[in-house]
Amino acid sequence: MALHCSRACKQYLLHLAQDNIEFRLPEIKALLSLRGKQFCPTENFKERSPFWVLNNVSEDDVLSIMGRTVCAKSVFELWGHGRTPSELQASLQKYPADDMAPFIQKESTYKINVYTFNKTLVFKDRIKKIDALEFLPFQGKVNLKNPEHIFCLLEDYGSDPNNIPDEPFCVYFGRWIADGQRVLIRSHSVKTRHFIGNTSMDAGLSFIMANHARVKAHDLVFDPFVGTGSLLVACSHFGAYVCGTDIDYNTIHGIGKASRKNQKWRGPDENIRANLRQYETEQFYVDVLVSDSSKAIWRQGPLFDAIITDPPYGIRESTRRTGSQKESSKPAEDFGGESHVPVSMAYHLSDIFSDLLSFAAHCLVIGGRLVYWLPVYRPEYREEIVPLHPCLRLVSNCEQTLSSHTSRRLITMEKMKEVEDSDKQALVLESRFSPYQGHNAFREKYFSGITKRSGKSDGSTLVNGSD
Ligand SMILES: C[S@@+](CC[C@H](N)C(=O)[O-])C[C@H]1O[C@@H](n2cnc3c(N)ncnc32)[C@H](O)[C@@H]1O
Repeated sequence: MALHCSRACKQYLLHLAQDNIEFRLPEIKALLSLRGKQFCPTENFKERSPFWVLNNVSEDDVLSIMGRTVCAKSVFELWGHGRTPSELQASLQKYPADDMAPFIQKESTYKINVYTFNKTLVFKDRIKKIDALEFLPFQGKVNLKNPEHIFCLLEDYGSDPNNIPDEPFCVYFGRWIADGQRVLIRSHSVKTRHFIGNTSMDAGLSFIMANHARVKAHDLVFDPFVGTGSLLVACSHFGAYVCGTDIDYNTIHGIGKASRKNQKWRGPDENIRANLRQYETEQFYVDVLVSDSSKAIWRQGPLFDAIITDPPYGIRESTRRTGSQKESSKPAEDFGGESHVPVSMAYHLSDIFSDLLSFAAHCLVIGGRLVYWLPVYRPEYREEIVPLHPCLRLVSNCEQTLSSHTSRRLITMEKMKEVEDSDKQALVLESRFSPYQGHNAFREKYFSGITKRSGKSDGSTLVNGSD
């Protein structure tokens, strides 16, 4: 039950969206930590519930969270809650009159909404619920069109659509404070984006990644597998300076075949800079380069505040890196006798991830975050297969299912310390003695599963434009 001690220990009710459920807690935790606050769960906290009560935070904290979250729909100053109408009434009657006073004045206008989760109520029943709140000391006038204060009764009927109870499991009443940023999911949809590719990251997930990475104004953010720059779009929205690299010359230069239906070739201004211009964040564009992420091109030392990326997993695009004929199995004559001829080599997924972690360990600032997608074959998944690094702490690991047997996991890591010689030695030993190479066969496992299930082998069951 809510503790109504004083203004200082108010509680806030988050109403969360029910998509991307696993990504919500790390998002809210990351946004709270940007304010120097921790998530303090209540006794009956349920991670999959659409309602969470926030303790030990101020109204400024929740306003700042709502200014960024794409997982939460709205936040309310919680005035009371209970399992039954009488428990709710008792809880509301304990809410300090001083805290209510500014919002129930005679001169003020207000309205009360009713929101039900997992049940639809007819209009008559909604009115009944509002009438049952008549014990609240509202003195102002009801104004349905343009009220000064909005209140909401929120009822939770559980999450089983086949077993909806007559009465809610829990009821909350509070003053609406703010909505989250779910409008960004539509306003930044790749459907209406200027420059897109086959693997452009969905807008909602891009913003979630930027939030998990705690990207903030004036940060410098880097995407080593930048593609069409969807992640840079999200980071620049939060005022970070953005840059990236990609091995694909056409993608970086915005030329070649278009990905849109009914369009053969990319237009003259289809590039990442133009995407940022579309969302009025061009001032945060640093640059993008054609470069192979398996090669070190950056000076050693802390450079980036965040590294946020979606590496290729070889489904829609090959995982390639540059090499020389010395590394190739082809005979030297095939290269015309030249001493160094760059060739394209397979870039194994295990190497992509160990290179990425090593790069992050060297080039992130302390406290900076690496956020990336790890594809997994679900029957083989164990937490131990998530790549680790002695300088990076695993912050969160959230699954997004792609098919019955494959998924990708959004991994967030934070740099704890600079790389020392002992860390390099530990990594060499680790790669020698615990070489999980299962990542490398992801492509084969992905297609073998699809073939078994549906006979398809074109990757068409992928969601959200994943690679
Ligand atoms: C999954 S896509 C990234 C999509 C991107 N997030 C977007 O929204 O468009 C992976 C990208 O990695 C690039 N890539 C593949 N191998 C690479 C390498 N060795 N170095 C740099 N980029 C590489 C591919 O060209 C592709 O654009």
